[in-house]
Amino acid sequence: MGRGGRGDSLEEDPMGDKPFLTDIKTLRERARNHIMQGAVTPGYKADVTTVVRILNEALATEIICVLRYKRHYFMASGIQSSGVAAEFLEHATDEQGHADQIAQRIVQLGGEPNFSPEGLQTRSHAEYVEGETLEEMIKEDLIAERIAIDSYAEMIRFLGHDDPTTTRMLEGILAVEEEHADDLVNLLEGLGR
Ligand SMILES: [Fe+2]
Ligand SMILES: [Fe+2]
Repeated sequence: MGRGGRGDSLEEDPMGDKPFLTDIKTLRERARNHIMQGAVTPGYKADVTTVVRILNEALATEIICVLRYKRHYFMASGIQSSGVAAEFLEHATDEQGHADQIAQRIVQLGGEPNFSPEGLQTRSHAEYVEGETLEEMIKEDLIAERIAIDSYAEMIRFLGHDDPTTTRMLEGILAVEEEHADDLVNLLEGLGR
């Protein structure tokens, strides 16, 4: 062992005197002292109240999307629609999964997921539009997906590196919303539009 105990592993640190990692003892003490705060440790860099608020908006968006896709699934009828209906149902299931992931993360952050029907449409970024024809339904779903894509991208930019777990979750969801948008474009093309 050389000089300075735990400093040994840091000798290659180009920044010199400042340890890159908090030492294990301090980490463990902090964890013990703040044990009731769950996943939010003093190392958490984001403003947790704001993160919970934007996650609740995302939750509302996902719930609205589940409801819209379910409506479209049950209303899709006609020769051309069986593949389309199956796609609507698949998307509804995906959006439900996203809602669950987001609600779970809100709880991990010490917040409460807002499932209240009151104000649901106002909290949601995307709209609930029923649409008359199959084509209208697909177009409304595409609009909603594009809104979701923009708002998830914005949330990811907002969080930056301050909450990597939430960022990773949002990136996973964003990738699926992009697939959904792509599916809907293909469905529209399939209808000859
Ligand atoms: Fe979603
Ligand atoms: Fe989606």
